[in-house]
Amino acid sequence: MKKIIVTGALGHIGSKLIRDLPDYLENPEITMIDNLTTQRFSSLFNLPRHNYTFYLKDILEDDLDQIFKKSDVVVHLAALTEATTSIDQPEEYERVNYLGTKKILELCKKHSVKMIHFSSTSIYGTKKKIVDENCDKEDIKPQSPYASTKLKEELLVQNYFNKKNVKTKTLRLGSICGTSPGMRFHAAISKFCFQASIGQPLSVWETALNQKRPFLSLNDATRAIAFVIKNNLFDGGVFNVVTSNFSVKEIIQIIKKYEPKVQIKLVKSKIMNELSYEVSSKKIQKKGFIFSKNLDDRIKDTINLFKSIEN
Ligand SMILES: NC(=O)c1ccc[n+]([C@@H]2O[C@H](COP(=O)([O-])OP(=O)(O)OC[C@H]3O[C@@H](n4cnc5c(N)ncnc54)[C@H](O)[C@@H]3O)[C@@H](O)[C@H]2O)c1
Repeated sequence: MKKIIVTGALGHIGSKLIRDLPDYLENPEITMIDNLTTQRFSSLFNLPRHNYTFYLKDILEDDLDQIFKKSDVVVHLAALTEATTSIDQPEEYERVNYLGTKKILELCKKHSVKMIHFSSTSIYGTKKKIVDENCDKEDIKPQSPYASTKLKEELLVQNYFNKKNVKTKTLRLGSICGTSPGMRFHAAISKFCFQASIGQPLSVWETALNQKRPFLSLNDATRAIAFVIKNNLFDGGVFNVVTSNFSVKEIIQIIKKYEPKVQIKLVKSKIMNELSYEVSSKKIQKKGFIFSKNLDDRIKDTINLFKSIEN
């Protein structure tokens, strides 16, 4: 039986992960930590019968020694996660994301806990058609303070692996698509699904229609986390985790299958740019991980959240 800590357990990814892990791992003991700043109490509603413990704690402010003492793996999801708001609060993003990761790494070192760290495919910034984990240095160009802190965290995690003997794996996730009890609607696909469902035009960044970007089914995200734990892939390396690369135009075509009347409105954003690229996830696939075929079902699930139920 593995004892697993999930920080940020009540967030978009965490709230699905805590429900999925018992299906993927043999009888895991799941310890959830979240400071509830984002008020996602709903993530704790109706949890299935399982070995769960929840701690209302802040990863930076609170003493987590007793929790780490008894654990095998930490899935470190706690973070501030909106690229757009990070422009106005770069110091707070640095504090929670970078210093928060540092605190978790120190606890891992002290208590010999393995760590899954989460970065983002938004650390890439290139005009190349496709990039992978071995890309040139110049293809890594974060376009927001959020993405910059993610890159800085990656370097710190590598340092703890190389010099302080902490067993780690970094997952660079594509933009998440899929439903969970603690889901948010600020990222592209979820926001478009919501706008389409309430009959509003989709607010598409002026530059974005034909730009390709990497997306990740939430189901693939939680399976990938379990895959790393199950196969003990804590080799200090990085995996891109991406289901499909799409342009916004292609995403809108999928949304139109379920909401045919959808309109778009072009808007400006402080973090829009002219870059278009795809991110390869062949490295994790070579280890045996299989992604879903497409994102259609996740988009359908999201739109269906806003449909009334017959009977
Ligand atoms: N969602 C995506 O599209 C996406 C894409 C790439 C990478 N990621 C990464 O995955 C991780 C999780 O993302 P998410 O979408 O689930 O985020 P989220 O914002 O939905 O959840 C983060 C959770 O962390 C908690 N939290 C924040 N600060 C905390 C603190 N100091 N102490 C304790 N809890 C704290 C919040 O209350 C929240 O419940 C993040 O590292 C994010 O950068 C997410």
